Amino acid sequence: MNNGYASLSGLETPAAIIDTVPMHRNIKRMQARMNALGVRFRPHVKTSKCSQVVQAQREAGACGITVSTLKEADHFFADGITDILYAVGVVSSKLPHVLRLRRRGCDLKIVTDSAEAARAIVDFGAEHGEAFEVWIEVDTDGHRSGIRPEAPALLEVATVLHQGGARLGGVMTHAGSSYDLYTPQALEAMAEQERAGCVRAAERLREAGFPCPVVSVGSTPTALSAKTLQGVTEVRAGVYVFFDLVMRGVGVCSTEDLALSVLTTVVGHQTEKGWAIVDAGWMAMSRDRGTQKQSHDFAYGQVCGLDGAVLPGYILSGANQEHGILSREGAPDPDIAKHFPLGTLLRILPNHACATGAQFPAYHALGPDGGITQWSRLHGW
Ligand SMILES: Cc1ncc(COP(=O)(O)O)c(C=O)c1O
Repeated sequence: MNNGYASLSGLETPAAIIDTVPMHRNIKRMQARMNALGVRFRPHVKTSKCSQVVQAQREAGACGITVSTLKEADHFFADGITDILYAVGVVSSKLPHVLRLRRRGCDLKIVTDSAEAARAIVDFGAEHGEAFEVWIEVDTDGHRSGIRPEAPALLEVATVLHQGGARLGGVMTHAGSSYDLYTPQALEAMAEQERAGCVRAAERLREAGFPCPVVSVGSTPTALSAKTLQGVTEVRAGVYVFFDLVMRGVGVCSTEDLALSVLTTVVGHQTEKGWAIVDAGWMAMSRDRGTQKQSHDFAYGQVCGLDGAVLPGYILSGANQEHGILSREGAPDPDIAKHFPLGTLLRILPNHACATGAQFPAYHALGPDGGITQWSRLHGW
């Protein structure tokens, strides 16, 4: 972590801190892997929702972006990015917004995984003289949405799109169940399952005579574990830019790579309980308890000093809206007030960087020289 941290003591807490040194390292690491594997990289910007972070990803070599909301698409299109994938199944009510963006020159791609939604897209397109580019979502791990690679529905959806005048741009999948794994072997196997399933879906489409130029896969754990990406044209990943405790538990990063933390102040004590009270509750950390399912549960976060060094054994064990409870794992610390006097500044590493970042209207970016710059971020829809 960054050593020029003294400037943090001037901030009002709680505050979201991006340590830009590991952030840039994370960006370089992912891009270098993608270059070595011979695929384009389309970062998912829902993690940071921040122009400066996305700019750094593009400068490192990213081609296009993935968004989770149309508000992100609006924002990053205004920043000059045109190649955008909206990676949540689109519904009719959002098509006018998609159309507006496309008419303004945004090369916005949408996804679907049902014939019904595909029909709504082509009907709306026909009505407005627009050939939407649509990617079919493929389910390669049973995690969430998508069509199984071998399912008849894959060809049905392709038929609706193709015959209805939409452009079938490709297939995409997200092996989110990789978050539940923690051995290199299991992660590598999941990456291969994600690759093979998506490539298989593309092959079925091509064999049936449909175009399928893009094969898009990705999650941070699989992107960092794939040994080969044969047949894949691009990868998407998001949380790698900051990493977090969950990703550390999965085993794809180490503590030094965690680029997002919440700066907080000790505001009180319950000495007999071994508690220090801090001003980062769930409103700052989010309610995400991602490490609960992992072998080491950090409750609402792991406690670090102002310099970012982990204070072993101390966690944010409880959280109310604006109060966090800091305590020692195992036996309570009877000297908690001595170890963490009133006014002490600490940094808390979050379970899930996307969820924690989303609690704040802006980040404070800590540069290598200790300088701090405020970077605003999007939120809402
Ligand atoms: C469709 C899609 N693609 C890519 C990603 C990126 O995953 P990660 O944050 O693990 O890199 C996500 C994350 O939820 C996603 O929903």
